[in-house]
Amino acid sequence: MKRNIEDAFNLHLNAEFYSFYLYLSMANYFAAQNLEGMTHWMRLQSEEERIHAMKFVDFINDRSGRVVLAQIDQPRTDWNSPLEAFEDAYSHEQLISSKINDLVELANQERDHAAHQFLQWFVSEQVEEEATALGIVEQLRRVGDNPVGLLMIDQQLVGRTPPTDSASA
Ligand code: FEO
Repeated sequence: MKRNIEDAFNLHLNAEFYSFYLYLSMANYFAAQNLEGMTHWMRLQSEEERIHAMKFVDFINDRSGRVVLAQIDQPRTDWNSPLEAFEDAYSHEQLISSKINDLVELANQERDHAAHQFLQWFVSEQVEEEATALGIVEQLRRVGDNPVGLLMIDQQLVGRTPPTDSASA
C-alpha cells in the first residue's frame, strides 16, 4: 500500500482505539451512577470500537504495510448527566464519520480500490452508529429530569447483545 494511505490508516486506527477508551470511560461513569443498562451498553460499544481498530490493523498487515501503534489520548472521565455523555458519543460518531469520508476520498485519489472497498463497511457502519447514538440522545431529551423515565431507558439498554462475530460489530 502507498505510504500516505498507510499513514492515514494508522492515524485512523488510533482514533478507533480512542473511541474504545472514550466509551469505556463513559461506561465507568455510568457504573458510578449505578446505571446498569447504560454501563452494559457502553461496554459493548467500547468493545465494538476495539474490533473496528483491529479491522484496520488486519487490513494494513494484509497489504504488507506496517502498523504503528501511537499513544492514545486520555478521554474525559466525567459528565454532568447521562444525556451529556450520549450527546458526546453522538458528536464523536459524527467526527469519526467525517474521518472515514476523508479516507474514502484519499483511497479514490490514489486509485486504491482495495482500500476503497474495505472502507465501504465503515461507511455503512457509521450510518448505524450515528443513528443509534442519536436515538438514545432523543429519548433522554424527552424524559428530561424525570428519574423514572431515566430508569426506563436504562432498563431498555440492558438488552443490548454482544456482536456475534467481528463482521457484525
Ligand atoms: Fe468505530 Fe463508532 O466508530
